[in-house]
Amino acid sequence: VRTIDWRDGAVVVVDQTALPHAVRLLELRTVDALVDAIRRLVVRGAPALGAAGALGVALACTQAAEEGWDDARFDAEVARVRAARPTAVNLAHGVDRALAAQAGGAGAVEAVALAVLDEDGAANRAIGERGADLLAAAHDGPLRLHTHCNAGALACVEWGTALGVVRSLHARGLVRSVVVDETRPLLQGSRLTAWELDQLGIEHRVVVDGAAASVIARGLVDAVVVGADRIAANGDVANKVGTYPLALAAARAGIPFVVAAPESTVDPHTPSGDAIAIEERPEDEVTGWPGGAPSGWAPPAFNPAFDVTPADLVTAVVTETRVIRPAAGERPA
Ligand code: MRU
Repeated sequence: VRTIDWRDGAVVVVDQTALPHAVRLLELRTVDALVDAIRRLVVRGAPALGAAGALGVALACTQAAEEGWDDARFDAEVARVRAARPTAVNLAHGVDRALAAQAGGAGAVEAVALAVLDEDGAANRAIGERGADLLAAAHDGPLRLHTHCNAGALACVEWGTALGVVRSLHARGLVRSVVVDETRPLLQGSRLTAWELDQLGIEHRVVVDGAAASVIARGLVDAVVVGADRIAANGDVANKVGTYPLALAAARAGIPFVVAAPESTVDPHTPSGDAIAIEERPEDEVTGWPGGAPSGWAPPAFNPAFDVTPADLVTAVVTETRVIRPAAGERPA
């Protein structure tokens, strides 16, 4: 099952708010429904958001024909999809790719959107193999890996980026175990990554985010591998909040900090991390418990959903076409 797909004029997604308790598919037939699903993280992860952006334009074309939207309305609806979440550049990238086909009509837009979906699996498998080559060469024998958030099949159309690297290493018999950060506040690590690793039969343990740096400092990890939401031209990397401390700990411990992401996550128009918009999410995600009853105690909270790891802490960025070494001064764009 693809995490996000297109069936009979609807966007079909695996509802990530329901996992791991239930594998539930949702059909989204309007731009409203898609924007709501993106904001609530029903569909999430940079590559999956790229697919959602492209499919959002296809949905807008259908709705425009059915409801007689004028051009201004169409543009406004597409702009809503593009702005549904600010940090992952893949969302805007997906929208822009599909929009570029608009002159060819709804059929052409749909074809481009479907191409975005089809390319995802192939790109992720290539990232996985290249990342596995890199890490296998850097270490003797099976690796103890550390990851943050979810950069698996659930964050993409299929296969995964950081977890794609883990999968390729596992296929070569080179994974000893994976440390999975819980990833507060929405628990993408303990709910989604741990679930994927369980399905794949890969040994793993969840740690609370606050334990991550000291787990690395204690020598319990050989390499960190994470995904990305936006990679600036200078190699600064935005990813789920809590990634930067991992990079600091990895640098201090002298182990590789590897970012696995498709080329569509590299943003040549963002010169450095300072220019990346960091999404701020509602306070109650921090003060409440996801899916649980409100605790009744709600202190003021600050909830930045992403952080920026400076290029000098990034050992390598692995994409489907290349390896870039920002810490050694190489620039992705
Ligand atoms: O808020 P999320 O769950 O969309 O954040 C996702 C991440 O930070 C992922 O690590 C990133 O998008 C890469 S997914 C292959």
